[in-house]
Amino acid sequence: MANIGRMQAAATAGGMTLRPHTKTHKSPRIAQWQLERGASGICCAKIGEAEVFADAGIADIRLPYPINPFNAPRVMALLDRVQLSLVIDHPAVAEQWSQAMCVADRRLDVLVKIDVGYHRCGIAPDMAEAVAFLSHVTSLPGLRLRGLLSHAGQSYDVQSSDELAGVARDEAEMLRVLAGGARRAGITIEEISVGSTATAMLSVAEPDLTEIRPGNYVYYDRSQVAIGSASLDDCALTVMATVVSKPARDRIILDCGSKTLTSDVGRGMVRPKGYGEIVAGLDVHNKPDDSLLITRLSEEHGVVEVQRGGTTLEPGDRVRVLPNHSCVVSNMVDTVQLVDGSTIVETLPIEARGKII
Ligand SMILES: Cc1ncc(COP(=O)(O)O)c(C=O)c1O
Repeated sequence: MANIGRMQAAATAGGMTLRPHTKTHKSPRIAQWQLERGASGICCAKIGEAEVFADAGIADIRLPYPINPFNAPRVMALLDRVQLSLVIDHPAVAEQWSQAMCVADRRLDVLVKIDVGYHRCGIAPDMAEAVAFLSHVTSLPGLRLRGLLSHAGQSYDVQSSDELAGVARDEAEMLRVLAGGARRAGITIEEISVGSTATAMLSVAEPDLTEIRPGNYVYYDRSQVAIGSASLDDCALTVMATVVSKPARDRIILDCGSKTLTSDVGRGMVRPKGYGEIVAGLDVHNKPDDSLLITRLSEEHGVVEVQRGGTTLEPGDRVRVLPNHSCVVSNMVDTVQLVDGSTIVETLPIEARGKII
């Protein structure tokens, strides 16, 4: 709740809307809390996720993912009940979406994805090419261009906070310059949307941007602590695990392996070692025990090496594990328990878990 409130306050203070990416929690209930506190809508990556959130009554969904037009029937069905927008970064894909919309006598809201340095999706931020692409999109009768969108995923690989600030600044500047060029060419750019948790608190200070789309901030994780975007106390998601074996004085086995924690390694300026931070005991306020390191994962086993001396943990004891990456962990389990200290307040289903198509 504090994480949701803090990010919303920062976006509002910066004059921007917050549209959280729900890939992190995959829960309509948590999305509802974000909306009640001021979010303008939500983001999903996949249509399957959007269908779950639409079923739950969420009315404004953006898909900042290159959805292929073979999905047109599912997108049409969503358009019947929600305000939907998606991103475009390829001329043939733009044309196919336009054609599908024209056949159905509809128009689809799109944003053009700009590659601001992550080199994953997006058109290059070259002025002539970008303006040509944007004017092509505006000429397509089935599409309505809303603006520009980017994701500076390279923010997770920076080596210093100065470099992180540079990523956020460069992203904003690239988008501002492109939007200016497009407007001078007569193209309407209403929205400029950016989003990553690592850069969100920096992006809100940038003029002309209209929207941030962080997702991870709802839970944060070990990597965000290593990047400096969160403290350990901000981290809201832990995996409750049980010690299932103690083959040696300096080795215990937990029942969370790669099918729970995933094999994602820690990211951040000082890369955290191993697969998660172990917090002894059930109380979420307990601090991590740095003598315990999860050095290896099999599918069902987390191998913990005790760094100094032995451990009093025995089979049957419970621990909490703060994962390297909370978003992937959410997708691995059916439920999340809301806890206050060591009391379980409520159990929520993770309704969009596994909706990867
Ligand atoms: C396109 C897009 N927007 C927003 C986000 C949210 O970023 P973060 O995971 O840093 O919160 C992501 C994350 O992968 C993304 O791919």
